[in-house]
Amino acid sequence: MNKNFQKDIDLGLSALNKTLPSKYFYDEIGDALFVEIMNMPEYYLTNAEFDIFKNQNQQLIKALKLENNNFFELVELGAGDGTKTKQLLKALDDQNYNFKYAPIDISENALIQLKASVNNELPRIQIHPRQGDYFNVLADLKTSAHPIIVLFLGSNIGNLTDARAKEFIQKLDDNLKTGDKVVLGVDLIKPKSVVLPAYNDAQGITKRFNLNLLTRINKELGADFDIDTFEHQPEYNEEEGIARSFLVSTKDQIVSIKSLDKAFTFKKGEKIHMETSRKYNDLILNGILDGSSLKISDRLTDSQQLFADYILEKL
Ligand code: AVI
Repeated sequence: MNKNFQKDIDLGLSALNKTLPSKYFYDEIGDALFVEIMNMPEYYLTNAEFDIFKNQNQQLIKALKLENNNFFELVELGAGDGTKTKQLLKALDDQNYNFKYAPIDISENALIQLKASVNNELPRIQIHPRQGDYFNVLADLKTSAHPIIVLFLGSNIGNLTDARAKEFIQKLDDNLKTGDKVVLGVDLIKPKSVVLPAYNDAQGITKRFNLNLLTRINKELGADFDIDTFEHQPEYNEEEGIARSFLVSTKDQIVSIKSLDKAFTFKKGEKIHMETSRKYNDLILNGILDGSSLKISDRLTDSQQLFADYILEKL
């Protein structure tokens, strides 16, 4: 059993305001539910970033100031199925750029499939997948003598609190060389009428995505959560630009967790904070970058201005 998982769940449910870390959403069922989310009509983020990679890859290549004869490494953190990245890989390949692609993901399975599809669709591309937590793998970037382009797409940074995002940027900054670049994909701050439905879909997929973490705790830690007694409650604060998801207990109840040898009391209406999805603009991103030597050098947005890929350059 994963000791960190056990410890984090204990910590979160023992807090005055109960919380569970959203990084644990992604077991096998969670991965499959997230694929369903990306295909939902309400979840505009994936299509918007795909639009940038499909229709503006020339602008992206120009913004990255790449040179044909200079070998570089394209490192992708949390690569997933690589649908967006393959648009860029194809453009680079067509124009004979000299590079290797190093996707990093926590899921071995996702990497095996990605390697197979890149080998099949773009056989000239050198692909070197690495399995691991990208926070840990960052340290290895330093050993490369080549220019590095880091891709961190999909608004994944949005699931970190501002304090953790700052730590992440600092770690990235510490491990890059002058001239290295980062492509950072973020969801832009926009009205509640657009954001909230993305986290509150009509089919209830996002609700199942959140509840699946309780099911995972039942399976892996021997808990007895009755998932029918928790309601999904997403919120979006337009001024802050932060979406938050909660599960709310519909009754007074006690949940036991065998592997912790503990019981947790829930009052009717009590919330568990499940996920934070921060939205960005230049001001917020500059606040996160403050104190690092990564600076915004360019920004590409989709045709509807929903999503942005920022180019950061290490000074
Ligand atoms: C992975 N991440 C950027 C998604 C998001 O939008 O925060 C996860 C997600 N949660 C609910 N729907 C999608």
